[in-house]
Amino acid sequence: MRPSLLFACLVLPALSLAQQVTTSWIIGTNSQASTVSTPTVFTIGPTSTGNSTSGGSASPTGNSTSTVSGSTSGNATSTSSVVTSNLPTAATGVPGANGGGPGGGAPSPGAPAQGGIYGPPDGYIAGAEALRSAAMLGGVGLSFALQIVILTSTRSTQVSSKRGMEIKTIGTHNGTFHCDEALAVFLLRHIPTYRDAALKRSRDPAVLDTCDIVVDVGAVYDVQKNRFDHHQRGFQEVFGHGFTTKLSSAGLVYKHFGKQVIASELKLDAEDPQVTVLWLKLYKEFIEAIDAHDNGISQYPSEAKPRYRSRTDLSSRVGWLNPPWNVTVDAQTVDSLFVKASQLTGEEFLNRLQYHAQAWLPARDIVGTGLLTRHQVYPSGGIMLFERFVPWKDHLFELEEEQNIAREALPLYVIYPDEFGGNWRVQAVPVSPESFESRKALPEAWRGLRDDELSRLSGVEGCIFVHASGFIGGEAKCRTHAIILLLVPQATKRKKEH
Ligand SMILES: *[C@@H]1O[C@H](CO)[C@@H](O)[C@H](O)[C@H]1NC(C)=O
Ligand SMILES: *[C@@H]1O[C@H](CO)[C@@H](O)[C@H](O)[C@H]1NC(C)=O
Ligand SMILES: *[C@@H]1O[C@H](CO)[C@@H](O)[C@H](O)[C@H]1NC(C)=O
Ligand SMILES: *[C@@H]1O[C@H](CO)[C@@H](O)[C@H](O)[C@H]1NC(C)=O
Ligand SMILES: *[C@@H]1O[C@H](CO)[C@@H](O)[C@H](O)[C@H]1NC(C)=O
Repeated sequence: MRPSLLFACLVLPALSLAQQVTTSWIIGTNSQASTVSTPTVFTIGPTSTGNSTSGGSASPTGNSTSTVSGSTSGNATSTSSVVTSNLPTAATGVPGANGGGPGGGAPSPGAPAQGGIYGPPDGYIAGAEALRSAAMLGGVGLSFALQIVILTSTRSTQVSSKRGMEIKTIGTHNGTFHCDEALAVFLLRHIPTYRDAALKRSRDPAVLDTCDIVVDVGAVYDVQKNRFDHHQRGFQEVFGHGFTTKLSSAGLVYKHFGKQVIASELKLDAEDPQVTVLWLKLYKEFIEAIDAHDNGISQYPSEAKPRYRSRTDLSSRVGWLNPPWNVTVDAQTVDSLFVKASQLTGEEFLNRLQYHAQAWLPARDIVGTGLLTRHQVYPSGGIMLFERFVPWKDHLFELEEEQNIAREALPLYVIYPDEFGGNWRVQAVPVSPESFESRKALPEAWRGLRDDELSRLSGVEGCIFVHASGFIGGEAKCRTHAIILLLVPQATKRKKEH
C-alpha cells in the first residue's frame, strides 16, 4: 500500500468532525495544471484560512477529466486541506503531469513553476503534520477516492485575483534545513510583498533563477536582485548598530525586511520610532543567536568548557526536526518538515515580538522615568523605586547606558511591590543582566534571616526575609515602602559604620 493510501486509511476514520472538504493539489506546468483531489471528511483547524479553490466539485470517480468547476481565482495558495507525506503523482500520460518533481512526478507541495503554482501552501502541510500525528492514534479502515482533475486554466493559478498581484516565489536550498532559512522564509511571508509567496527548495541555479527572492543559497548577496545568501567567500555582513556577529540568512533578511515585518504585524508605520526600538531589541533577543549559531560562533570563548549541555534553543529544536541519519525520507517529506520548522521559528518570533510590543516596551517607559527621578527617592541616586511591579531588569542596563550614567551614580537597589501588591521588596541590582552577582548585595549579617530576628538586627520593624545570597529581601509586611526606605540606606552604609 502506498504510504499516502495508508495514511488516508488511518486518518480518515479518526475524525468525528465530519465536514466535507476537498483536498487538492495543483501540479501544473505552463500550459496546464492537474489537480489531485482527495475528498476527505475533516478540516484542519488552524490553517484553514480560506476555501478550497479548485476541484471543489470533483467527483470521486477516479477518472481524469478536463473540466473543473472550482474557480482558481482567489486564494490559490490558501487551501484548507490535507497533504500526506507522499504527494500522489499524476500518471505520466496526463498532460501537465510532468510537474517538475523528482522523476517528472509531483513537485514539492507549494512549489511554483513557470506558469503555475504547485500545490497548497506550506502552512497547510504543517497543519496536516500535526493532524497526522494526532490521527495516527485513531482507528482504521475507510475508503477514499482519489481523483485527478486537469485544469485547463493556466495563468489563473499564478495570479491572486483578489489583489491582482503576481504570486511571488521564495527560493531556498533543499535537503537538511536550519533555523536561519526557516525563519527567513517565515519573515518574508510576513511582509506584504511575499505574503502569499510559494516556496521552492532547490540548489539548482536554473530553478533558483525563477524565484523572486532567494535566501541561504546561491552564493550571492545582492539586495537589488533579492539574493540573500551568506555562505560565499568574502561575506562579512553584520547587523550593525553595535552588533558585530556575522549574519546568517535570518539576520540578513531581518536586517532588510525586519522593520516591515514588525510594522505589518503591529499595524504601525515602518517609520514609527517604536518599530525601530523593537527591531533592534528583537535582533538582540532573538535573531543574533541564530546568526551566531549558524556561523559557528560560540557564545563563550571556546576554551571555556560548558558546565552542562543546553540543546533546547531554537536552532537546536529546528535541527531535531530533520530526519535522523538512518531514516530515508523523500523530498516532499523533508519539505513538509521544513514548513514545520519555519512555523516553529516564526511563531516563536511573533510571540516574542508581541511580548516586547505589549509588555516590554511599556515597562521600558516606567523604568526610564524611575531612573530619571531616582534622586528624589534617595539623594545618592543609589535607590530606585517603582510604585507598581514592573520587570525592570531588562531595561535598566540599556537605559543606564542610554542616559550615560556615571558608575558611582548607578542604582544599587530597586524597591517595588511584589506582583500581588501585598508586600514590598528590595532587590540588589546585579552587575549585568544575566549575572547572579549583585552590585552591592544586602549586608552579609542579614542574609538568611527572617522576621523578628532580622528586624532586631537591622533595627527596622516589619522585615520578612533576606535571601541567603543577599540579592533580594526586606519584604515589608505593611503596605508601604517606608520601611524599606529605612532598611536600604542601612544596607548602603559602609562597613565601618556598623
Ligand atoms: C467559504 O465558503 C463559505 C460558503 O461559500 C463562505 O460562507 C465562507 O465565508 C468562505 N470562507 C472563506 C474564508 O472564504
Ligand atoms: C473511467 O475510465 C475507464 C477507462 O477509460 C472507463 O472504462 C470507465 O468507464 C471510466 N469511468 C468513468 C466513471 O468515467
Ligand atoms: C482569502 O483568504 C483570506 C484569509 O486568508 C480571506 O479573508 C479572504 O476572504 C479569502 N478570499 C477568497 C477570495 O477566498
Ligand atoms: C536537492 O534537489 C536536487 C534536485 O533539484 C536533487 O538532485 C538533490 O538530491 C536534492 N538534495 C537533497 C539533499 O535532497
Ligand atoms: C537506525 O539504525 C539502527 C541500527 O541499524 C536501528 O536499530 C534503528 O531501528 C534505526 N532507526 C530507525 C528509526 O529506523
